[in-house]
Amino acid sequence: MEVILAKTAGFCFGVKRAVDKVYEQVDSGKPDVYTFGPIIHNEEVVRDLEEKGIHVLHTEEELCRLTQGTVIIRSHGVSRRIYELMEKNGLEVIDATCPFVKKIHRIVQEAGNRGDTVIIAGSRAHPEVEGIVGWCGGQAWVVENREEAEKLDLEAGAQVTIVAQTTFNYNKFKDLVEIILKKGYNSSVVNTICNATQERQEEASRIAAQADAMIVVGGRHSSNTQKLFEICKKECENTYYIQTFGDLTEHDFQTVRTVGITAGASTPKNIIEEVHTNVRIKF
Ligand code: F3S
Repeated sequence: MEVILAKTAGFCFGVKRAVDKVYEQVDSGKPDVYTFGPIIHNEEVVRDLEEKGIHVLHTEEELCRLTQGTVIIRSHGVSRRIYELMEKNGLEVIDATCPFVKKIHRIVQEAGNRGDTVIIAGSRAHPEVEGIVGWCGGQAWVVENREEAEKLDLEAGAQVTIVAQTTFNYNKFKDLVEIILKKGYNSSVVNTICNATQERQEEASRIAAQADAMIVVGGRHSSNTQKLFEICKKECENTYYIQTFGDLTEHDFQTVRTVGITAGASTPKNIIEEVHTNVRIKF
């Protein structure tokens, strides 16, 4: 059986940078260190950090109650209001916002200052999008799908800046932009989709198209892993979504000649390696 491991599987630059920053804090031995939300969507990594004394703040209320310590902002970034809150509470801030997300904050902030309406193609409930909305200043709309894009009803000739959540699907973004452009607004489109995501999605799709079975490794709540799964499933009916190798054991790969493996941006290298090695040995 041939096993093809995607080169782009696993941590992207921004996630690696954020996780490294947390482990630097562990090494420094500093007390009272928190991350605002789990640093990545991976239960094993979060548990390991918890054991090393890094606690997760799950809500804004928990953050509000904190009056001392260090808070690490994860790669998704946060709204301006959260920075202000942390400053007011006298907390030390370690900002691990991915530079690509920071760039979107800058774009929408400048757009807001110009008086533009900002349209964000993305998932409304995703923390990255919530953070971006929080930098817009003026009017902001989140558009998740074609229907929402069709429904957009701004003033004729409105000045509009369109951006995307970094992990948004590129083809979907193109579709939504096309719908919005037809409305005749004065639009400026900035493709803020991160290359890491695009490359990972393209490579996954390419491998899935030639594989008899495809394995996607990643946390249950990781939206970029869910998207990878959708993309692979389109090309390869036999696509499995697993968190660790243990989830695979009941599947039968006897008749499979080529297996592809990819993983979401928040999947640690050791978990990918475990799957890669065991698929070769056990099936
Ligand atoms: Fe940053 Fe792109 Fe990763 S935006 S967090 S490098 S997916």
